[in-house]
Amino acid sequence: MAQASGRQAVDESTLRLNFESIMPNPNLSTFSPAELVPSSQTERTRFGRDVIAGLRQEARRLSPKYFYDVAGSALFDRICELPEYYPTRTEIGILRDNAKAIAEVVGPNAEVVEFGAGSLTKIRLLFDAFAAGEAPLRYMPVDISGEHLHMAARRLQAEYPALQIQPVVADYTMPLILPKAAADSGKRVGFFPGSSLGNFQPDEALEFLRLAARLLQGGGLLVGVDLVKEPAVLHAAYNDDQGVTAAFNLNLLRRMNAELAADFDLNGFAHYAFYQAARQRVEMHLVSKLRQTVRIGEERFDFAEGDSILTEESHKFTVDSFRALAAAAGFSPGPVWIDEQRLFSVHWLVVR
Ligand SMILES: C[S@@+](CC[C@H](N)C(=O)[O-])C[C@H]1O[C@@H](n2cnc3c(N)ncnc32)[C@H](O)[C@@H]1O
Repeated sequence: MAQASGRQAVDESTLRLNFESIMPNPNLSTFSPAELVPSSQTERTRFGRDVIAGLRQEARRLSPKYFYDVAGSALFDRICELPEYYPTRTEIGILRDNAKAIAEVVGPNAEVVEFGAGSLTKIRLLFDAFAAGEAPLRYMPVDISGEHLHMAARRLQAEYPALQIQPVVADYTMPLILPKAAADSGKRVGFFPGSSLGNFQPDEALEFLRLAARLLQGGGLLVGVDLVKEPAVLHAAYNDDQGVTAAFNLNLLRRMNAELAADFDLNGFAHYAFYQAARQRVEMHLVSKLRQTVRIGEERFDFAEGDSILTEESHKFTVDSFRALAAAAGFSPGPVWIDEQRLFSVHWLVVR
């Protein structure tokens, strides 16, 4: 069984239990979705527990990781193509323009772990930047949205048949167990694009980077970080004209209805996103349009008109504030690549 042999090969230095996904077989370059999909019952229980706890708080909030079921992942892909959503095209431009320099710091025959890998789009730019015989040997995309990850991994495998692709369905806020590095491999390198780091609270961001530094010993982390900028640009990016971001936000209610026996009326809530300049973050909320009671299983939650649920925070950084955070987590900040308009940054961090 893939699972059993995967566990035998676990690198003890990275082993911290609490890993609720299933290990892929480190010796396989192909994968079987049936072996990798986590128990949906377990997922739903954890999802339900987190939702109830979040809605019981005085200031109601839900983790943005729950946006990403199959529909949420597809909606996020549509967001990436919106004219107002500058982060994706800007980061892709930075990766494309600096691909050779990035390949140089990553080095030959690397093992790449991508956190929150989504549709596996940006990693292609990195793979294509290496000289013949130096491309990464193994790629481990980690994502909580399992079905979407498997579909994307299958497409990537068809394009890069020589690459060992081992998708890992897991929550990257938990310590990950990864297969032991192959003897002939280069550095273990993390890739964390999309400014997903900004979705953490500052203390969570520090904790995540500390975990990553432990996982990537001897290697480094390539991370995309959105920069502080003109509030109007940020406002437009999170309030697009076509309403795709609103649909993405409201999809969380649909997901709770489908998976947690909730009865949210999607017409009873509105998408609301704004930039809080003092805290250098965008906040995304679902605001109740009326006085209403929502049931989730046995639980009931009363909403007055205007009551909100915070569904995402997206923290923006300066180059210096991010480098200071990375240094505090155990990295030596290396080169930073930035677009001409200084909208977005890509940092190379070396594990100290
Ligand atoms: C903002 S999207 C970025 C996708 C892609 N990396 C990009 O840059 O376009 C965030 C991705 O991270 C995944 N994700 C969010 N929270 C996660 C978590 N706690 N653990 C694992 N994956 C997570 C989502 O499923 C989604 O694919």
